Amino acid sequence: MALEHGAINLSQGFPDFRVSEKLIDLIHQKMKEGHNQYAPMPGVPVLRQAIAEVIQKTYQRQTDFENEITVTAGGTEAIFATVAALISQGDEVILFDPSYDSYDPAIRLNGGIPIHLNLTPPDFSIDWNEVRKKITARTRMIMVNTPHNPAGSVLTSADIKELETLVVEHDLIVLSDEVYERIIFENKTHESVLKYPRLMARSIAVFSFGKTFHATGWKVGYTVAPENLTREIRKTHQFITFSVNTPVQLALADYLTDPENYLYLGKFYQQKRDFFLNEIKGSSLKPLPCLGSYFQLLSFTGEKSDTEMAEWMTREMKLAPIPVSAFYKDKSDHQLLRFCFAKGEDTLQKAGRILRTI
Ligand SMILES: Cc1ncc(COP(=O)(O)O)c(C=O)c1O
Repeated sequence: MALEHGAINLSQGFPDFRVSEKLIDLIHQKMKEGHNQYAPMPGVPVLRQAIAEVIQKTYQRQTDFENEITVTAGGTEAIFATVAALISQGDEVILFDPSYDSYDPAIRLNGGIPIHLNLTPPDFSIDWNEVRKKITARTRMIMVNTPHNPAGSVLTSADIKELETLVVEHDLIVLSDEVYERIIFENKTHESVLKYPRLMARSIAVFSFGKTFHATGWKVGYTVAPENLTREIRKTHQFITFSVNTPVQLALADYLTDPENYLYLGKFYQQKRDFFLNEIKGSSLKPLPCLGSYFQLLSFTGEKSDTEMAEWMTREMKLAPIPVSAFYKDKSDHQLLRFCFAKGEDTLQKAGRILRTI
């Protein structure tokens, strides 16, 4: 609809600013040097080594790049390969709505049964007693996502401890979608499952370079999981994509050696969030707290459903958001719209100008 109506598109989650020239040059260099053929199935070793070093620096956790890290075609393939490997017919998977759109289909396509639990605004926090009630003899996995798309919420260390207690008690595994690990605000620290040894021993953490390096089109991500789980994930990864493109992997390996290339990200996006919030001052749409990710939720009142509001805004106001009900299996409508602020200031200013008139 955004294309059809010539609307500013803040709906889909992709940045509209340039990827680092240095990183692009590195990819050219790797191509020119002749690194253009199949990469090894788990990912090029130098990239997996570089990832292990980043994990060590970030989470003070030692990982074995040979047996615990697998490079995938973005976070989406990482999620799918994980579910395909570890979920069997009739297994139940607990997930929290609103949720990223690939979770539920990945579970169902692999014969699993998604058990959706709704989180509600303004803070979208998880009620762990409710989670406990949903666990049955068939429960195999819990999926979490922090920082969260679309809510912009983050899990706290108390959440992670609750999660750890539950999964140890019930012998479950965790898929922890951490693709926005670097995009976290207000000096909060990202609570990765990798920081908690007992949890890490039964978790698959999913990451995406698309989010970290403004290059969603390259589709390179990775999983970090203990050896027994990684072995299974590689069996499905082998027949989903087999391997991920070589020159980008090699370039990323070089680029990751300088922490400056990713440590700035939280501040960078916090500034964007604040710029956007400043631009929309005076609008009748009200912001919800956003502690991470590059999405800002705005609430509205009135007769319209969120989908009607998003369609109206796109058609009549030439600004396209996403209705948050789209992220709920039961289409719960809290009159919320999601706006992606991973955009240049010019675009955010134009969007703000429109929002101030609503
Ligand atoms: C929460 C979440 N998980 C996973 C992905 C997929 O990541 P990738 O683009 O690397 O496949 C996205 C992308 O929007 C996302 O928002």
